[in-house]
Amino acid sequence: MQIKSAEFVVSNSDVSKCPKDRVPEYAFIGRSNVGKSSLINMLTNRKSLAKTSGRPGKTQLINHFLINKMWFLVDLPGYGYARVSKSAKKTFQKFITEYFSKREQLISAFVLVDIRHKPQPVDLEFMTWLGEHNIPFSIIFTKADKLKPMAIENHVNDYRDVLLESWEDMPNYFVTSSSKEIGKDELLKYIDDTNTN
Ligand code: GTP
Ligand code: MG
Repeated sequence: MQIKSAEFVVSNSDVSKCPKDRVPEYAFIGRSNVGKSSLINMLTNRKSLAKTSGRPGKTQLINHFLINKMWFLVDLPGYGYARVSKSAKKTFQKFITEYFSKREQLISAFVLVDIRHKPQPVDLEFMTWLGEHNIPFSIIFTKADKLKPMAIENHVNDYRDVLLESWEDMPNYFVTSSSKEIGKDELLKYIDDTNTN
């Protein structure tokens, strides 16, 4: 798929106000600073469609972008960011769970994890939650430019080992780097192949 157009549509903290159109959507989620917004910019060939920052917690709302006038790409705030208050965390959890429970047009979630780190409980818990709610997802390993190929393989295998303790199969996954444009074609092809529109 070639991305011919990418338009910001709306930001929301309220799931009921998200676009009502029956346009298929794909949501990008993961810990703060994992590289969600950067990945969205890479996929859409835009430098700053989604705002990025070295400081975690940049994306605070549910952001809908319309791609090729055919599907929504959704940038979500990061979870597991220690420096926000407890009440902010609670509100956030509520709207993320609401988002995933209510968006019937969601085709798939992409759970982003930093390839450099060992499997983290917060990510594993989130994947388990998605599985329990029958929400399809793929894993996107980010920042692959930071590791050598051998280390990438080892880190993916670490994830596989941990996940296979509770899952029958390793979920579908992609290895990506936004700065080196790694994984872009595979990801766009997957979206193209699964898009019902
Ligand atoms: P929040 O919105 O705060 O949850 O963060 P985010 O997940 O959207 O991350 P963002 O895209 O803002 O990137 C966070 C930091 O990681 C920025 O400093 C990016 O430049 C850097 N980064 C993102 N992707 C890559 C990558 O593929 N390679 C490298 N080396 N750095 C990256
Ligand atoms: Mg962001």
